[in-house]
Amino acid sequence: MPDGTLLLTGRGRLLTPRPYDGPGPWAIFVRDGLFAWVGPLADAPAADSTVDLGTALVTPGLVDAHTHPAFAGDRSDEAAARLEGAAYSGGGILRTVAATRAASDDDLRALTGARLRASLASGVTTIECKSGYGLSTGEELRALQLIGEAADGLPIRVVRTFLGAHAVPPEAASSAEYAAVVADEMIPAVAAAGLAEFCDVFCDRGFFSPEDAERILRAAAAAGLGIRMHADQLARTGATELAVRLGAVSADHLEQLDDAGVATLAASRTVATLLPGPALVMRDRMPPARALLDAGVTVALASDANAGTFGAWGAMPLVIGLGATLLGMTVADAVGAATAGGAAALGLTGRRGVIAEGADADLVAWDAEHEGAFALYLGAARPSRTWIGGREVSG
Ligand code: NIG
Ligand code: FE
Repeated sequence: MPDGTLLLTGRGRLLTPRPYDGPGPWAIFVRDGLFAWVGPLADAPAADSTVDLGTALVTPGLVDAHTHPAFAGDRSDEAAARLEGAAYSGGGILRTVAATRAASDDDLRALTGARLRASLASGVTTIECKSGYGLSTGEELRALQLIGEAADGLPIRVVRTFLGAHAVPPEAASSAEYAAVVADEMIPAVAAAGLAEFCDVFCDRGFFSPEDAERILRAAAAAGLGIRMHADQLARTGATELAVRLGAVSADHLEQLDDAGVATLAASRTVATLLPGPALVMRDRMPPARALLDAGVTVALASDANAGTFGAWGAMPLVIGLGATLLGMTVADAVGAATAGGAAALGLTGRRGVIAEGADADLVAWDAEHEGAFALYLGAARPSRTWIGGREVSG
């Protein structure tokens, strides 16, 4: 549907992400790549073309607000060893860094592109993509550049995040010394080249301290980048409080969050982005989703697909199912967290992740009739048709 107006109609479940409860069949009017009207079919404006989605479940396109796609190598042996008691340490990330540095541009672009295509095929229409397996100025810039090149020519919408502070590289003497390089050298280069919209830091035990993270994120904000954090995943370090104090758009992971941290987030605008995939693979405790929702925190669900702790690309339907089965969310809330919640975590509230006037016309019709399918099929729910910006795309 390249030009002209489009009317999508249906008589099944429509999540906007709130369940549509208007009378009779519904209709969605699309103009210039945006949703322009949603309401009862009986009141719908005329359009140049119409597509009837029948009884299919329809949702906004999924927004995966936390992924790490630019890497080479294989660490599945680590997942097995961890389940036999081995600890998670920075050594794992550094194995991926070595493999990624050794990969050619063509190979890294192709690996990244395949991950983006798998995500698109699973109903993801916006995806956040982090660097972080390069850990030098040249390698971090290369990763961000190749993510951009992998996305070119694909309809999926990509938001890039600079994660130079993912681990301390072997050539650095300390996290503080490397944090200074990230803040003083890498961030200005990333910002000058326009290669990222956000900066993230893995602020956790054995990685970067709150002091390192504050130095880096203040430099990022000064350079015009939005900020987000990996927070309170491995240990309760206070990273969540730092994220709130710095005005981060999102604090991600939060497996170790306590009541005080929930209250801190509730008093802020920072989104809690929850990642049940790696928590499950690492047999970690689950983040306190119910407490966060009950406290009124905006919650996002994202995959955290990466090289070492959750390797599933195209797994957002599973993540929604885990939100419902493991995190105690209703399925409709889990869909909301993977759509409007993900958009909020990327600073895109009202523009993505909703079927509402003025938002980008990104929408998925599922091979299912009710959102309960995300729990029932647990990872096997699949789109039947996907639109991005009012154009139908194939996975
Ligand atoms: O989000 N927590 C930090 N980073 C990733 C894991 C990266 C890796 O082990 O390669 C995550 O889980
Ligand atoms: Fe992550």
